[in-house]
Amino acid sequence: MTVSLPRVVVLISGRGSNLAAILGADLPLQVVAVISNRPGAPGLELATGRGIPVALLSADEYPDRDDYDDRLRALIDLHEPNLVVLAGFMRILSPSLVRHYARRMLNIHPSLLPAFTGLHTHRRALDGAVAVHGCTVHFVTEELDGGPIVAQGVVPVLPSDDEAQLAQRVLAMEHRLFPMVLRAWAEGRLTWEGERPLLRRADGTPGERWLGLDPS
Ligand code: GAR
Repeated sequence: MTVSLPRVVVLISGRGSNLAAILGADLPLQVVAVISNRPGAPGLELATGRGIPVALLSADEYPDRDDYDDRLRALIDLHEPNLVVLAGFMRILSPSLVRHYARRMLNIHPSLLPAFTGLHTHRRALDGAVAVHGCTVHFVTEELDGGPIVAQGVVPVLPSDDEAQLAQRVLAMEHRLFPMVLRAWAEGRLTWEGERPLLRRADGTPGERWLGLDPS
């Protein structure tokens, strides 16, 4: 009997290092398509090299936001995903699109939410003189960077850090955290307790929802 793996569509805007981490983690899922909103995103090339269908949906072609989101939804649904993964997708999605993928869309954000929603998270963490920083995987809701938190990766902020050094440390943590969450999801270990996501161990007991502190 052939067991079909759960289907995942990944949305990106650029570099695609999280996509690379997901593809390199030998997860029990199949990335069935990668879609970018920006032309020339290196992540597209990476996916093509792996034989994964890619698509570019540029806002230049669909300047109207609702048109864009309708087209994006059609493009995603063509691949019948069980989950949509935002891996560095730098575009705000309309409430109706987000509702369509309720509990089926995960995002990674480079901060310990609810701190530092939006952009320039590393600079703001340094400006705020916080002692720890990190990344968050959360379900996407209509509230920007405000959906239910699945797991967080924590890194120290060192006195000598500049923005690039801190960004690099957080990114390395992202590359561990996202595959960890996606493995749990693919194995049916990401469940809900009311409105709260829960990562479970293989025996069904609640598991850790965080990684860190990694000084590297
Ligand atoms: C990552 O740091 C991700 O957390 C961030 O964009 C970067 C994408 O890098 N996402 C956001 O800021 C979303 N609000 P990548 O293309 O190398 O994966």
